[in-house]
Amino acid sequence: MELTLRRPFDAHVHLRDGVFLDTVVPQVAAHFGRALVMPNLQPPVTTVAEAEGYRQRILARVPAGRDFDPLMSLYLTPTTTPAEIERAAASPVVVAVKLYPAGATTHSAAGVRDFERLDPVLDAMAEHGLLLLVHGEVTDDEIDIFDREARFVDRVLGPLVERHRRLRVVLEHVSTRAGVDFVMGAHEGVAATLTAHHLLHNRNDLLAGGVRPHYYCLPVLKREEDRRALVEAAVTGDRFFLGTDSAPHPRAAKESACGCAGAYTTPVALALYAACFAGAGALDRLEDFAVGRGERFYGLEPTPGRLRLRRVRQVVPDSYAVGEDCLVPLHAGEALEWSVEDVPTAGA
Ligand code: NCD
Ligand code: ZN
Repeated sequence: MELTLRRPFDAHVHLRDGVFLDTVVPQVAAHFGRALVMPNLQPPVTTVAEAEGYRQRILARVPAGRDFDPLMSLYLTPTTTPAEIERAAASPVVVAVKLYPAGATTHSAAGVRDFERLDPVLDAMAEHGLLLLVHGEVTDDEIDIFDREARFVDRVLGPLVERHRRLRVVLEHVSTRAGVDFVMGAHEGVAATLTAHHLLHNRNDLLAGGVRPHYYCLPVLKREEDRRALVEAAVTGDRFFLGTDSAPHPRAAKESACGCAGAYTTPVALALYAACFAGAGALDRLEDFAVGRGERFYGLEPTPGRLRLRRVRQVVPDSYAVGEDCLVPLHAGEALEWSVEDVPTAGA
């Protein structure tokens, strides 16, 4: 079994900075024609000037001969101004602004606590056509971690989408049936990204028979019934598209008494998405999920190049070197059913 498709668009990826870029950018550019890069560096990317500088550091790591278009996002803070939004809208490379509730996830301390105060900035975004990307989890200590997405949708996202009917919104890495139902029922300016790990795994993979830190990410993996709702949305919903949320961390930060959140999935993501769509009998819809729907939602021109997914076993490397450190991908050392191959361009 095989499938040739346009090079996918990863609509949610963490590349980090410095020495991480040397390892991560070539791996992303090997499989994706375009990616939307998350802004949660330390300190966060909050201005257009910083985003443009970061983009140059990324482009400097793209191997010669690879077509790769990194699009940028800004990190929304309580002090983001409508003037910065206007500058972002005028920049050809900044396409979205990311909302992290303060404390929700890795590097989110600079995020937002009072969502209603964002209204002037969100009005400016709607006016200028800049998208809002949302990490959809409440952060209150008293809310169970498995309920944080559903509560966020009820308490924050539902009202926000109603207050800003013209704003285009993406619920990132949707992980629950409640999240899927919200997006399906919302107006057509609301979409969601789906990660490979949330499509293929549930919380048993994280916790049953031992704690597996490389499966720990936020939002945390949920129940099997939630996973099934995600697969159904990926296969049938036209506003659900690929966003890996691949989030590299040094091995020691993951394999620790207090391991941090984030799964490095870039090298395995397409094999996992292929397994998911093949399992659902919907391989014919994978290309639209992987590139068409995201491009249309963002209003982007197609990028060049194709690649081939073949049902050929591959063994995932145990780790990748990052400077003196190393990076462990999800499914390290395991065999996967699908492999990714380049399709040479005409004349190459
Ligand atoms: C991400 C990271 O490590 O930057 N971690 C994660 O678990 N997904 C942040 C995020 O997207 O939540
Ligand atoms: Zn993320």
